[in-house]
Amino acid sequence: MKFETLAIHAGQEPDPTTGAVMTPIYQTSTYAQEGVGEHHGYEYSRTGNPTRTALEACLAALEGGEYGLAFASGMAATDAVLRLLKPGDHILAGNDVYGGTFRLFDKVLAPYGLEFSYVDTSDLDQVRAGLRPETRLVWLETPTNPLLTITDLAGVAEILRAHPASPWLAVDNTFATPYLQRPLELGADIVVHSTTKYLGGHSDVVGGAVVVRDAGLRERLAFLQNAAGAVPGPLDCFLVLRGLKTLPVRMDRHAANAAAVADFLAGRSQVKNVLYPLLEGHPGAELARRQMLNGGGMVSFVVKGGEAAARRAAESTQIFTLAESLGGVESLIELPAAMTHASTAGSPLAVDPGLIRLSVGLEHVEDLLEDLSRALAARE
Ligand SMILES: Cc1ncc(COP(=O)(O)O)c(C=O)c1O
Repeated sequence: MKFETLAIHAGQEPDPTTGAVMTPIYQTSTYAQEGVGEHHGYEYSRTGNPTRTALEACLAALEGGEYGLAFASGMAATDAVLRLLKPGDHILAGNDVYGGTFRLFDKVLAPYGLEFSYVDTSDLDQVRAGLRPETRLVWLETPTNPLLTITDLAGVAEILRAHPASPWLAVDNTFATPYLQRPLELGADIVVHSTTKYLGGHSDVVGGAVVVRDAGLRERLAFLQNAAGAVPGPLDCFLVLRGLKTLPVRMDRHAANAAAVADFLAGRSQVKNVLYPLLEGHPGAELARRQMLNGGGMVSFVVKGGEAAARRAAESTQIFTLAESLGGVESLIELPAAMTHASTAGSPLAVDPGLIRLSVGLEHVEDLLEDLSRALAARE
């Protein structure tokens, strides 16, 4: 089946007891057993829940994986993957990852003895040079949050295969979504998502997911999912499942609007620099064209006049809402240095205070351009 069909049907059958076409929200914590240990595959909802099972199967199908595991948030999914490692293990991470990911690595997991170092993964020589005998995991985003840098996934996977320690490659695919890019097909071992974003698609749920192909990895992650217990509730699983059904049509429109916004910004005198994967002059544009179906819905740009000018613009839009997060139908604007990436301040991952990040939504593009035009012209 093609992606659009899987997005609507994978993991979902009409409910066997009632015929309900939409997957029911199995709002139950436990399941009756006919005899001790005799049940229908479900014992307790931390371990498994039918609404969650449907979501996990759908996510696995969309990513071209075998197994999906749903979590209570993107950070919970990331945390579960990192718990595959033990003190002394080294993780080579991208130097432009979501601020919360950096905070988890730097403030929570490093004190437990995991070793992190950060490189620009879009430069394969830096990846090669950053690997150590004790490297167990390479963690990266492409496009990155917030600089939209593109990494050659097949290139990194090849380097890791040739390395004596064969580290896993984990890709946070939140920005691209599996509609644009499927890292497992390019050699990654683990895909992670904040389903809060494009997969949910409507800014009404917080969730996360991991998708893998290897049964052993799945078993270890399912153990951690149950043992640590950061699972999503059935209503949240339902909301993400519903979001997935329209993912392809939403992503096409997000990308069309974002490309128009990027072109528009590139022509404005108040703008110093625009970052969008397919924009001419973006260093990763050719790779993005090969690796992604389109450029996605995120656009970042630096305004002239530094932080003050960026704050003024971000506080002056009317349709773009000043808010963290991304990937919903509505357009959002934010300042990463002061908001989503504040935890990177003072670290090598700190971002330009004049950088503005847009999550370009599904409104009419002319309204979006007019809104930005007005905000850029705003005076104190
Ligand atoms: C790329 C990326 N990964 C992970 C996360 C964390 O996800 P969550 O907020 O669902 O915990 C985010 C959140 O903004 C993100 O942008």
